[in-house]
Formats: sequence, structure tokens, C-alpha cells
Amino acid sequence: MLGGNIGAAAVAVALLTGTACAIELDIHKEQSIKDAAATAVFNTMSNYTANQTSSNPKQSPRTWWENGIFFSTLMQYWYFTGDASNNAAVSQGMYDQRGKANDYMPQKSPGFVNDDQMTWGLAAMTAAELNYPRESSSMPSWISLAENVFNSQVARWDNTSCDGGMRWAIEPTQSGYTMKNARENGGLFQLSARLARYTDNQTYAHWAEKIWDWSAGTALLDTKSWRVADSVLVEGSCKRSSHEQWTYNYGPYISGAAYMYNMTKGNEHKWRLGLDGLLKTTFDSFFPEKHGGKIMSEVTCEPKMLCGPNQDIFKGILASDLVFTSIVASHTASDILPRLQGSAVGAAKQCSGGSNHTLCGRRWYDTEWDGSADIEEQISAASLFSANLVVFKKDKNPATLSTASNTTQSTAKGASESSGTTTSGGDSSSKPNSGSSIAGGALGVSAGIVAGVVAAVQAMA
Ligand SMILES: *[C@@H]1O[C@H](CO)[C@@H](O)[C@H](O)[C@H]1NC(C)=O
Ligand SMILES: *[C@@H]1O[C@H](CO)[C@@H](O)[C@H](O)[C@H]1NC(C)=O
Ligand SMILES: *[C@@H]1O[C@H](CO)[C@@H](O)[C@H](O)[C@H]1NC(C)=O
Ligand SMILES: *[C@@H]1O[C@H](CO)[C@@H](O)[C@H](O)[C@H]1NC(C)=O
Ligand SMILES: *[C@@H]1O[C@H](CO)[C@@H](O)[C@H](O)[C@H]1NC(C)=O
Ligand SMILES: *[C@@H]1O[C@H](CO)[C@@H](O)[C@H](O)[C@H]1NC(C)=O
Ligand SMILES: *[C@@H]1O[C@H](CO)[C@@H](O)[C@H](O)[C@H]1NC(C)=O
Repeated sequence: MLGGNIGAAAVAVALLTGTACAIELDIHKEQSIKDAAATAVFNTMSNYTANQTSSNPKQSPRTWWENGIFFSTLMQYWYFTGDASNNAAVSQGMYDQRGKANDYMPQKSPGFVNDDQMTWGLAAMTAAELNYPRESSSMPSWISLAENVFNSQVARWDNTSCDGGMRWAIEPTQSGYTMKNARENGGLFQLSARLARYTDNQTYAHWAEKIWDWSAGTALLDTKSWRVADSVLVEGSCKRSSHEQWTYNYGPYISGAAYMYNMTKGNEHKWRLGLDGLLKTTFDSFFPEKHGGKIMSEVTCEPKMLCGPNQDIFKGILASDLVFTSIVASHTASDILPRLQGSAVGAAKQCSGGSNHTLCGRRWYDTEWDGSADIEEQISAASLFSANLVVFKKDKNPATLSTASNTTQSTAKGASESSGTTTSGGDSSSKPNSGSSIAGGALGVSAGIVAGVVAAVQAMA
């Protein structure tokens, strides 16, 4: 049942057309883009078998944090296509993973770090903004889940070094505890900004500003070159950074600045300056001129085909952040949309892998399939294709509390695992499913990236 009929139909059409390039894409035709998105989504769902309320989402993305991206991508797909085939599974998975305190903090978390939780908080935020259908109205609202993630994280704001910031890891024993990173701090900035716009609650706006200013005071966010570093070492006051450039570190700062820009009605120069500066760096860095300047590339690992699995999902994250930026900061659309279109046209040519010639590779600039066909490449392609439907969508503004449908009021009670409570932080009516526990085995997710970055930072230190 998963994946629905549109995917199969699109594949049938693609196969009938008989070319080696199996995702046919006419970027100017809505149905053509929908078909491409449906095929990519079908492929992301084809291995997804989890419908077991007491288990992790299984056998699709390989790591827990990637599952948050996966669900968020599927919500975006529904939003832009209207195809609801996967909604029940996604809603169920989102609730299954919410944790006892409704804040996406697993109870047992060996390798679990701040930005893993953040991925899920941002997915819940996306669900709220897109009016994503809930599994059942007795479940906590999406916005309360997002607020709970915010509250659980700001309680970990670390004043003991670098005058603030979020550490990458949560526990001193974890790899990554000695670093503060862009994905987490940018992610909390983005979540705060989106919560601020959604709820109009100034607490979130203050935090957004505080995290942005803090980032700009460290080597993470360079407000002269508008480069975002991957991470900084706590030792040396967060002035030393890893120079590696990744698309998914730019997305949250761009998106957060766009939401703040919108929320302040375009009147605050700070957000316009940051947004436009970061976009320029993103275009210059990740849309290389040698491929025409309109196709997104993970430049740090793609040229030599050295991308790790995690890294193949990054471009999908940036595509998603860019498309919503183009909505809430409308002046950016004329720069963003041609690049999403160029990337999609490029990616479609790349999607001729596997026995059915529809699996996408990672190098969207190659005119032939590059041989990679993991789940992360399919998720990135699904995000990219569905993002391109934005030009056909009416009423595309992300919801706010006053425009949201089927969303309960903002009810966060400040539930935080650090307060030692295990009570529900969401709707008081909701009873977390006590049978819903998260197996530890598949967590640990970012640990690989963290280790890689430790090496990188040490190499430059
Ligand atoms: C999962 O299985 C349960 C129990 O059979 C069912 O109620 C639920 O609708 C299923 N969910 C999905 C997404 O298929
Ligand atoms: C809103 O709630 C109604 C009734 O529960 C349901 O039929 C409908 O699908 C929901 N819509 C959304 C967008 O969640
Ligand atoms: C960090 O310090 C600020 C004041 O400098 C204070 O308001 C805040 O509560 C502190 N945060 C934590 C988590 O201790
Ligand atoms: C604003 O959000 C914070 C954090 O969730 C919450 O503690 C506070 O009660 C909210 N304020 C209002 C007026 O809702
Ligand atoms: C704010 O976002 C809305 C869409 O939600 C958009 O119509 C409006 O133009 C945006 N404001 C600015 C200043 O870009
Ligand atoms: C294409 O083949 C892959 C395995 O190679 C499979 O996972 C996927 O479901 C197939 N997709 C379609 C659309 O048939
Ligand atoms: C699905 O799983 C099979 C077997 O592990 C694998 O070969 C295939 O690549 C997977 N498909 C996707 C789209 O990840």
C-alpha cells in the first residue's frame, strides 16, 4: 500500500517512453513534476515496512535522524502534490517516535546528540506549518511537539564555554561534546524563528536573535564572507573551526533568517543582510559555475564520489529550506527557483539506476546515472522534485497559529527531560503510549559525522 498508485503509474509511463533516462521531466509541466516526485517517493517508501508501534521506523533511512528528514520530505511531498498515500504511515511514525515527554528525546540514547533531536523538532514544525493531518485528534498537536523540543533544548544552552551555544553532544562522555556545531545551533535558530512566526510569542523571537548573535560571535557564522563552518572547538573559545562546507549547514541559517525577516515585516536590515549574504555564498559555493551555475552539488564530497550516506541527504534538506525561504521572503524566489529547476532537470537525468531505471544517483550534474542509489539519494531527489511544484501551488503560505486548521492551541508546558519530569508536555489530554519505546540499536546516527569532524578539526588545529 505504501507509495500509492501515482508512483507506479509514473513508473509505467517512464518505462513506456523507453529511454535509458527513466525519470522524464518537463520542468514547466505540473503533472510531469508530480510524476517525477511520485516516482522518487515510491522508491523512498519501497523498503519502508515499519508499522509496528513499538519499534523504530525500520529499513528505510538507516539512521534515526534521517527518519526525521524522511518524514519531513514526505510531508512536503503531500503538501505540494496532494497525494496522501503515505500520510497515515508518516503520521503514525511521527507519533511513535515522540518519546515519553513528547519532545523526541529517546529514553535510552547511546549515540544520540542534539541535532538528531532537532531533526525531529523541525519535522514537527513542518507538520504544523503545512497543516499536516494528524493520526488522531487525541494526539498532541504538531506545534506542541515542536515547542517541547525547543524547551528541552534551550535548557541545555551551555553558558560554561564560549559565552553560550549548544554543544553538539549532550553527554560529556560522547564524542562531539567538545564541539559546538552549525547544524544544531542553526537548527535551534531555525526552529526558534519558525516558532516565533507561527505563535507570535516573543520568547522564540528573542531566542532566535540570541542564537544568531551568538553564532556570529564565533567562527561558525562569518558575517563578512557569509560562510558557515561545520563546527567549532569549545577549547579556544569557539574561534577555531572546521573549514568543511556542507549544504545542510546553510539551510537552517538561511531559513531562520528568512522567517525572522518575514516576522519583522521586512523591516529589520539585519535579517535581510544575513539572508541575502548567506544565499549568495550558497549559490556561489554549491551551484558550481562549471556545471552551469544552476545545479546543486555537495562540493566537498561529490567530485571524488566520497560522500558518506548521511551526506547524500544534505541536498534534499537544502532544497526544502530554500523552497520555504522563497515563500516567506518573496524577493528571494527569483534567485532560488531557477536553481531548484536546474537541479531537478539535472537530477532527473541521473535517475536511471536500479533494475527499473528509476533510482537516482547523487551527482545531479552528471547526465548519466553515477552508480549510487542509496535511500538518501532518493530522499534528496524526492525533496527536490516536490519543491519544484511550488510555482503551481496556490495558498502556499506556511500556517500560523491563527490560520492553522485542526491544530490545537499552543500548549507547551515546558516539558524537559532535564527537569527530571516524565510528564507529558503536550496537550494535557494526550497520554503518551507507554508501549512506545525506542530501541537503542538504530540510534547513534550522527556519531559517524561527529567522528569525521573531530578528525578534521584536529587536523587543522
Ligand atoms: C498499522 O497497523 C495498525 C494495526 O493493524 C493499523 O491500525 C494502522 O492503521 C496501520 N497503520 C498504517 C499506516 O498502515
Ligand atoms: C481536520 O479534521 C477533520 C475531522 O477530524 C478531518 O476530516 C480532516 O481531514 C482534518 N484536516 C486536516 C487538514 O487535518
Ligand atoms: C545563561 O546565562 C544567561 C545570562 O547570561 C541566563 O539568562 C541563562 O539562564 C543561562 N542559561 C542557562 C541554561 O544556564
Ligand atoms: C511562549 O513560549 C514559551 C516557551 O515555550 C512558554 O514558556 C511561554 O509560556 C509562552 N508564552 C505565552 C504567552 O504563550
Ligand atoms: C511573508 O510571508 C508571506 C507568506 O507567508 C508573504 O506573502 C510575504 O510577502 C512575506 N513578507 C515578506 C516581507 O517577504
Ligand atoms: C526499483 O527497484 C528498487 C530495487 O532496485 C526497488 O526498491 C524499488 O521499489 C523499485 N521502484 C519501482 C518504482 O518499481
Ligand atoms: C531496498 O533494500 C534493498 C535490499 O537491502 C536494497 O538493495 C535497495 O537498494 C533498497 N532500496 C532503496 C531505494 O534504498
